[in-house]
Parts: sequence; C-alpha cells; structure tokens
Amino acid sequence: MEHTTLLLIKPNATAKNKIGEIIKMVEDHGFVIDRLKIFRFDTELGRQFYAIHAEKPFFSRLIDFMTSGKTVAVVVHRDNAVAFLRKLVGNTDHTQAAPGTIRHLYGESITMNAVHASDSPENAVREIGLIFPEESK
Ligand code: CMP
Repeated sequence: MEHTTLLLIKPNATAKNKIGEIIKMVEDHGFVIDRLKIFRFDTELGRQFYAIHAEKPFFSRLIDFMTSGKTVAVVVHRDNAVAFLRKLVGNTDHTQAAPGTIRHLYGESITMNAVHASDSPENAVREIGLIFPEESK
C-alpha cells in the first residue's frame, strides 16, 4: 500500500554537505518527494519530536545534537514507504548498519547517525504534523 513517511537529514550530515547525496539515494529508491524544508530544531521542538525517548539516558545528548545545526526534513511517499525507508536508512548504530545503507555511509556515532526515519505510518503523521504544522492543519 502506498503511504507517506518522514526523513530527517540530521546536523552531522548537513554539516558535511551530504544533503544532495542522501536525497539522491532516496529518490533513486523510488520515493517521491512531497515536501522539503531546511531548519534548525529548537529545544522545545526537539523534546516534542523525541518525547518517546524523554526518559532515556541518551535524551539530553540527542537534543543537544539535534539543536546543534541544520536539519533537512523530507516528506516522501511510495508503496510500503515506512518499511522501505527504514531498510534504506539501516541500523541506528552505524557500525551495525548494512553496507549501502545511509547510516553505514554517513553515520558517525549512535547519536550522530545522519538520518531519522519514522517507524510507523502513525508516527509519520505525528512527526510530519510537528515539522510542517501549517500544511498539516
Ligand atoms: P533516531 O532514529 O532519530 O531515533 C532516536 C535517536 O536517538 C536515534 O536515531 C539516535 O540518534 C539517538 N540515540 C542516541 N543513543 C541511542 C541509543 N543508545 N539507542 C538508540 N538511539 C540512540
């Protein structure tokens, strides 16, 4: 079934000028880009976006990193988009990510893992609503 998901290109990847290469990988895998923007997370949006991880030991490190520079948010669709994008993104830990995945290529640590991809269609709707509040009303 065709549906929509969200990719974030995180500050370590934008700082290394990898936006174009990552978007090309996504387009080359059959995803169609519907919305795209570049912005910087503030602490409040970061805490809302990652609320599910609020109690985790890595939470403050994650928020510090996500607010440290520019993020690119890309809304994409294709059939089975959530599962396909997570496969293309690879394991959270770049040292465990399969060769050819985005995190294998561009991840630098578990926190600085280059990209985020929504883990379910429901979370994609929630996350897209947070990042693109005007268009989601
Ligand atoms: P992401 O897919 O954006 O979702 C949560 C993020 O928390 C994850 O990618 C990593 O950037 C970050 N993170 C940091 N430490 C860990 C950890 N030990 N386990 C999972 N995620 C972590």
